Amino acid sequence: MPVLFLLLAIAAGLASPARAQSAVTDGQKLAFDRGKGNCLTCHVIKGGDLPGTIGPELKDIKSKYPDRNELVAIIFDETKRNPQTMMPPFGRNRILTEQEISAIVDFLQTL
Ligand code: HEC
Repeated sequence: MPVLFLLLAIAAGLASPARAQSAVTDGQKLAFDRGKGNCLTCHVIKGGDLPGTIGPELKDIKSKYPDRNELVAIIFDETKRNPQTMMPPFGRNRILTEQEISAIVDFLQTL
C-alpha cells in the first residue's frame, strides 16, 4: 500500500502544473475564438492571426496588471472603468462565463 500512496502523491503533484497549463491553453482558445472572446478583433495578441487595432496591443500584461482581479474586472465589464469603451462587457452580457474569463486571465498573464 505505501507504494500506491507514493504513486498517488506523485500523480497529484504532476496534475496541478498540467491543469494550470491547460487553463492557459483554454484561455488562448477562448480569446482567439471569433464566436467567444473575439479579442483579436480589437487587440494585437502574440500568436493570433489578423488582429485589429481598436484596442491596445495586449502585452506585458503581468507587469501592467499584477492583480489578476483587475483583469477579471476589465473583461467582465470595462464600461465600469470607461463608460465610453468599445470593449464589450463580456461578463455582464454573459458572452463569457466566470470560468472562461478566469482561463483568459491565465492566458493574458503569460503575455
Ligand atoms: C470591440 C473591441 C474590443 C474587443 C472585442 C475587446 N477589447 Fe479589450 N479593449 C478595447 C479597447 C478600446 C480598450 C482600451 C481601454 C478602454 O477602451 O477602456 C481595451 C482594453 C483592454 C485591456 C486593458 C489593456 C491595457 O493595456 O490597459 C485588456 C486587458 C483587454 N482589453 C482585454 C481584452 C480581452 C481579453 C478581450 C477578449 C475577451 C478583449 N479585450 C476584447 C477594445 C476591445
